[in-house]
Amino acid sequence: MAQENSEKEPNWKSDFPIETRRVTHVSRREFAKFLGILSGAFALSNGFIVVRAMAFPEKPLEGEHFIVNADEVAVGEMFQFEIEGSKTIPYILIHLEEDQWRAFEQKCTHLTCAVRYDKDVNKIECPCHNGWFSADTGEVLQGPPPRALPQLEVVVKEGKVYVREYVKDQNV
Ligand code: FES
Repeated sequence: MAQENSEKEPNWKSDFPIETRRVTHVSRREFAKFLGILSGAFALSNGFIVVRAMAFPEKPLEGEHFIVNADEVAVGEMFQFEIEGSKTIPYILIHLEEDQWRAFEQKCTHLTCAVRYDKDVNKIECPCHNGWFSADTGEVLQGPPPRALPQLEVVVKEGKVYVREYVKDQNV
């Protein structure tokens, strides 16, 4: 009877006599080695990020940067923009009232989700974890963000909107 069974086994089984249990088995030593390699890779990538940030610190924003014509952004609207050469992109420009403009980094200070202006409540929302910021000052109103949104100075000249360096007394 046993002979009959072995006769029915396909040829490849005798050519490759490896048991399934041996193929899928991972020893404790192999698993520890894998974890060690993984931890080392994480440590290396974190180290790389720190070294890069120290070697190439972000330059402060200098000069004025034209963003948009004032009549292209209606009161209550938000306009997303980038500044050439700045790593901190993108930004948002908000037309709060007739002569009131605000500009902030668009990265939430919690986990860098993109924030957006909600004109119905006149606040800036981060949809990721229900974080809210003041559209006037960028300060945190609610939720997990640890700091205010960095704010840029806005200047309007002859119908054109410009931004320049960060607002200094902001508690960021
Ligand atoms: S990323 Fe904005 S609240 Fe978490």
